[in-house]
Amino acid sequence: KHMVMMDDPFDLLRPTTVTVRVSAKVNLALGVGNRAPDGFHPLATVFEAICIYDEVTVTRRDDSRITLTISGEDANQVPTDETNLAWQAVELVRNESVPEWENRGHGVDIHIDKSIPVAGGMAGGSADAAGALMAAAALYRIPDSPEELQPLAAELGSDVPFCLTGGVALGRGRGDRLAPVICRGRHRWVFATSNQGLSTPAVYRRFDELGGNPGGEAVPNDLISALTRGDLDAVAGSLSNDLQAAAIDLRPELEEVLTVGREAGALTALVSGSGPTCAFLVRGTAGVKKVSTAVSNLPQVHRTRIACGPAAGAQLLPGPVGS
Ligand code: C5P
Repeated sequence: KHMVMMDDPFDLLRPTTVTVRVSAKVNLALGVGNRAPDGFHPLATVFEAICIYDEVTVTRRDDSRITLTISGEDANQVPTDETNLAWQAVELVRNESVPEWENRGHGVDIHIDKSIPVAGGMAGGSADAAGALMAAAALYRIPDSPEELQPLAAELGSDVPFCLTGGVALGRGRGDRLAPVICRGRHRWVFATSNQGLSTPAVYRRFDELGGNPGGEAVPNDLISALTRGDLDAVAGSLSNDLQAAAIDLRPELEEVLTVGREAGALTALVSGSGPTCAFLVRGTAGVKKVSTAVSNLPQVHRTRIACGPAAGAQLLPGPVGS
């Protein structure tokens, strides 16, 4: 159905290179239920896209190879082979759009310019996958309908569908079944990253070992209502993360980071997703300054990042204006 013909008369109109900007996320709530037989945990999570961006550029090649290069912060910690989710995203789109016998000449160069912390619980890998998915779809001319990208995104990872849509959303199931949340106002955040990332499966495993949280996948109605009313204090009072105890159990030094941020005036301090990045919701530029200064002095903090939310999802950056 999605066949790309070599003699497609529109071939000349297709772009040869496409750049997509993708944002990081923080989980305002991360409710985790008990592990299901398939190994995944049922979730009720509220995602907020954050204005820290990676850029994913996909460029057509004359042969069928895929290559991947990475620049930016901590680029050397990111794999540049087929284990990278962005690579898998391109292959997924190519397999959907190009029949096997025609694979010749449908290779691409992928380049990722990273700014999202690596293995930090901010969906860096998932954002890159969403960006690569959208860029490859633009190059290979799928899908026929926007709804077709969402299942491909979910196949790549639980957070990838949200990275496509952005904004603020409730995620159920594995986190991939999304509904938009109406959010009034914007949030200021300070993030403190760690020297060493945490593996998401390892954090979920420790969550299980610590006894899980039966019924944890209940929808956080108080938070959703606070977001819709634009009540910052109520939002701050209802942020939660069921994976936090597991992340702190694996990295006890995170406790002090949260405490120092709280004492410096953060409205709320919590671990971002599966960690180890700590997230601080703050009020005003004064709050930003106090909290970022306080936590940046800690030896276990690698970098502090300032960001706002909500941000948009994956967006094609406009090319040059046509003549
Ligand atoms: O979906 P994704 O590949 O990002 O998930 C990575 C790992 O995180 C899974 O293999 C699983 O161990 C864990 N996970 C989970 N429950 C979820 C999402 C992820 O247990 N809802």
